[in-house]
Amino acid sequence: MHSHALTSVFALTTLLRLSIAGYVLTDNYERDNFFDAFTPFTEPDPTAGFVQYVDYAAAMENKMIGAVGNYGNATYMGVDYNSTSDTGRQSVRITSKKAYNQGLFIADIAHMPGGICGVWPAFWLVGPNWPSMGEIDIIEGVNGATTNTMTLHTSAGCSIQTTGMSGLVNTTDCDTNAPSQPKNAGCAVLSNDTANFGAGFNALGGGVYATEWTAQAISIWFFPRASIPADIAANSPDTSKWGTPLANYAGGCNIAQHFQNMNLVFDTTFCGAWAGQVWTQGSCRDKAATCEAYVQENAGVFQDAYWLVNSVRVYQEGSGGSRRRGVRREVQG
Ligand SMILES: *[C@@H]1O[C@H](CO)[C@@H](O)[C@H](O)[C@H]1NC(C)=O
Ligand SMILES: *[C@@H]1O[C@H](CO)[C@@H](O)[C@H](O)[C@H]1NC(C)=O
Ligand SMILES: *[C@@H]1O[C@H](CO)[C@@H](O)[C@H](O)[C@H]1NC(C)=O
Ligand SMILES: *[C@@H]1O[C@H](CO)[C@@H](O)[C@H](O)[C@H]1NC(C)=O
Repeated sequence: MHSHALTSVFALTTLLRLSIAGYVLTDNYERDNFFDAFTPFTEPDPTAGFVQYVDYAAAMENKMIGAVGNYGNATYMGVDYNSTSDTGRQSVRITSKKAYNQGLFIADIAHMPGGICGVWPAFWLVGPNWPSMGEIDIIEGVNGATTNTMTLHTSAGCSIQTTGMSGLVNTTDCDTNAPSQPKNAGCAVLSNDTANFGAGFNALGGGVYATEWTAQAISIWFFPRASIPADIAANSPDTSKWGTPLANYAGGCNIAQHFQNMNLVFDTTFCGAWAGQVWTQGSCRDKAATCEAYVQENAGVFQDAYWLVNSVRVYQEGSGGSRRRGVRREVQG
């Protein structure tokens, strides 16, 4: 049985498997290093939200981040739910110090803001000189949303196909100024699964959002807490085993050109360019004349508007083990 032929077939299969499934953990953001690895953003909200983004010192003093309650090892990021203010509700927005060019981003999140009138939470990646280096919105929604909206925003010349995903493509042109779409619509994929956003997500203890960004495609999967693949739990993710993604961005887009040097961002804003704009279109309009008035005058309703992040793990293709090199080595051997 131990012929040379069999031995080398075995070696070849092993090497191919290692090189194809070769994601290596490069960054592990969790409670002990989380805030050190991100920078608080304290400027006025670029999306015109009714919000005051505060620095870490103010956020800790107001118990908006850090060790709040009994949250195990997760990272808590909440908002002010005790005060009224006519200059915007206090919240936090943070940007990773590290920027990325492709990779696999696995966010294990136990709780998210969302489904609350006036609230606009997002977990996303964004490059410099917006939108020329791109934006990938992984988790986003406003007001009473019960499902997730995933969107790419780019400069002109990037559009997507509508196949290869379980979500529904609402707009196909990622260009923020696409003439055929509302301004800033981007290429949006809508989920219809209430497990992946807001109250439905929180009721299940959240889950894992996994985003794979390669030169060929940007794909997003969601796994509820009870069905997280074993390879994710074991830190050896193999995206080829995960089935159809929720969103799959590919087609008429040079991804390497349109998406570069991107930082991870978590934020919770209020009203502004999306939640405020659509205030009168949903059931929230019955609560107040404007989104800003509602957010200013109510405080306690925002107690549930918090992120609880178990970890964000970033994987890159293994050193010296990129697909092509691994295969080429085999051929030469
Ligand atoms: C927190 O993490 C430590 C190790 O880093 C572990 O021993 C402990 O069980 C964790 N606690 C909870 C509540 O998960
Ligand atoms: C709000 O008030 C409660 C009760 O006084 C306190 O426990 C909590 O830390 C406060 N939270 C914020 C964000 O101000
Ligand atoms: C879907 O696209 C239309 C325009 O084609 C836009 O008006 C609408 O807001 C989009 N819906 C969502 C949920 O993004
Ligand atoms: C979502 O849409 C798919 C296909 O249209 C359908 O099969 C599925 O039942 C829908 N799921 C929910 C939660 O509405």
